[in-house]
Amino acid sequence: MARLWVCVGTTTFFLALLVFHSRFCRSPGLGSFAFVVSWRTEKPLYRLDVGWPKYPEYFTGTTFCVAVDSLHRLVYVAQRGDNIPKVLVFTEDGYFLRAWNDTVDTPHGIFASSTQYEQSVWITDVGSGSYGHTVKKYNSFGDLIQVLGTPGKKGTGVNPIQFDNPAEIYVEDTGEIYLVDGDGGLNNRLLKLTQDFVMQWIRGENGTGPGQFNIPHSITVDSTGRVWVADRGNKRIQVFDKNTGEWLGSWSDCFKEDGPYSVRFTPDEKYLIVAQLNINRLALLSAPPIGNIGDCVVVSTVQLASQVSPHLVDVDRKTGAIYVAELGAEQVQKYVPLK
Ligand SMILES: *[C@@H]1O[C@H](CO)[C@@H](O)[C@H](O)[C@H]1NC(C)=O
Ligand SMILES: *[C@@H]1O[C@H](CO)[C@@H](O)[C@H](O)[C@H]1NC(C)=O
Repeated sequence: MARLWVCVGTTTFFLALLVFHSRFCRSPGLGSFAFVVSWRTEKPLYRLDVGWPKYPEYFTGTTFCVAVDSLHRLVYVAQRGDNIPKVLVFTEDGYFLRAWNDTVDTPHGIFASSTQYEQSVWITDVGSGSYGHTVKKYNSFGDLIQVLGTPGKKGTGVNPIQFDNPAEIYVEDTGEIYLVDGDGGLNNRLLKLTQDFVMQWIRGENGTGPGQFNIPHSITVDSTGRVWVADRGNKRIQVFDKNTGEWLGSWSDCFKEDGPYSVRFTPDEKYLIVAQLNINRLALLSAPPIGNIGDCVVVSTVQLASQVSPHLVDVDRKTGAIYVAELGAEQVQKYVPLK
């Protein structure tokens, strides 16, 4: 099992270093990982939950994404690989419940959308097989409920809607849908659909100007009506009005070293959590409560070991736990806020 100890930081910049020895490494090629978590603030804000999940052997592929259903206390993980289950369902405390792979080709993003009456999970599928190029809704047991896009066919159409490498989806409690399309395909756009899947607005094209994208990779919506998009290739985050699609601003100063791969808020919406895959880091950015987004400020970072490659993350809206889908380490890890 994991060993953990705390020591005084070796640089003046990092006040505390927490060094974890990986309890698990499935990938023989990558050797043993040492997890180094460092903090710029006075004290660490999160600690790695070394007991999640209970049995990491369930990760048998490349773990691309993770979604938390905080209402039903479930965690969904999607992974890629041959002859493996593509979606794994865990409890919040790390017990494995079930898995499925029917109609899932090559998952990229995942989002849990739940109400009192319905537990569902959406997956963006970038595969080119007969189920690829789609965004699909499943129930918690893997039954396919809804398909957006033309299965097996990439495209740029809007009526009917088509995708090429759809990257991520965000669904509001009202059922309204926001999508980024996509992860390096034909399209570089952000779309909003009504709960009945009617296009409400569409923004973006390939480019570097305001409202244009180069790999819009991750998306989230805050409670004041702003849509936050990780514009990965342009190394910036762009923000839009959720009702009109109007461009509100962009942050690029914080991403000179590496573009943002994920955007998620802490439950109080004070901080935006951004994964930076190539520098193996999670950054916490201070998010302005309303309106204009101003300049970006990194308030804390979690430095992961080299080759961990954090791709997409999700946050438990009740507990604030951060789940990180790591492409290199081929696992999902859970970080819990320190009180
Ligand atoms: C689906 O998952 C099962 C294990 O749960 C595996 O045996 C099977 O090969 C998988 N099928 C595909 C098409 O990946
Ligand atoms: C977007 O523009 C860049 C630069 O002009 C180009 O290299 C790239 O292929 C374009 N991507 C798409 C999807 O058209």
